[in-house]
Amino acid sequence: MMNVAALVDGKLIDIGEPVIFMEDRGYQFGDGVYEVTRVYNGQCFMLKSHMDRLFQSLAALNIIFSYSYEDLYNFHQMLLKESGIMEGSVYLQVTRGVAPREHAFPKKSSAQLTMSVRPVKDQSMLRKVGTKGIFVPDIRWLRCDIKSLNLLGNILAKQQAVEAGCYEAIQYRDNGIVTEGASSNFGVVKNGVIYTHPATNLILKGITRAYILTKLAPRLGISVVEQEFDRSFVLNSDETFVCGTTTEIMPIIQIDDQKIANGTVGALSKKLQIAYIKAIQEECYI
Ligand code: PDD
Repeated sequence: MMNVAALVDGKLIDIGEPVIFMEDRGYQFGDGVYEVTRVYNGQCFMLKSHMDRLFQSLAALNIIFSYSYEDLYNFHQMLLKESGIMEGSVYLQVTRGVAPREHAFPKKSSAQLTMSVRPVKDQSMLRKVGTKGIFVPDIRWLRCDIKSLNLLGNILAKQQAVEAGCYEAIQYRDNGIVTEGASSNFGVVKNGVIYTHPATNLILKGITRAYILTKLAPRLGISVVEQEFDRSFVLNSDETFVCGTTTEIMPIIQIDDQKIANGTVGALSKKLQIAYIKAIQEECYI
């Protein structure tokens, strides 16, 4: 049996239950942070890395949070057991809590944790053939490294992609530098080397990106350069891809009206995909 399941502060609730207060700062200000963890074969993939980043996001916003990694691990287990979901994703968010609406931090409020798990749709066919992207201006704030609930810039970018019949919006700043996708990181392959934007305040330090750079690429003997590049560098590259927890490694074979190289999935993207699937199997299918 498979059900959507949800927890509020570690207690199971019905996802349709109205449990959020009107003056929750997450609701009024987007004052909170979140994580998305992928579930394969009923097990969380790279949960520790996601929870480590959650604690970093909480610290960056000075949100006091009482749960430990062990608590969060147990909550994930509870959700998975309750839902019976084998292939899904867990959404977890923490807000600063409930307080009368004032911009500055309230003196008293306690962080509010909500979590839910849902099945994911299978995108493995699309990953094999690749998909399209569009370039859009990056209109987001300057702390994209915090996984904050404030996603309006990302949402507007993704909507443009969808309206253009594209999978992802590839964002670039006013100076022409390409940053990342609306909900993914971005990589380019040129002469056998992977290029990606440095992990500065302008991008989210993606868990998938980090895994590619520190584990998969070295294992495959591929060099990685964290360096700024512009749109023309991208359009003249050999391969491009976006990556993320639910995206995994998705080849982008065309951006705007221009094919990348010959417009098919490149050899290096395929190698990365195979290595990524192997890593998932080693962690979740044993
Ligand atoms: N998005 N950049 C942005 C802006 C993202 O929103 C995400 C993830 C990533 C990739 O990070 P990771 O590899 O840690 O998932 C990069 C999640 C999945 C989301 O918002 O649903």
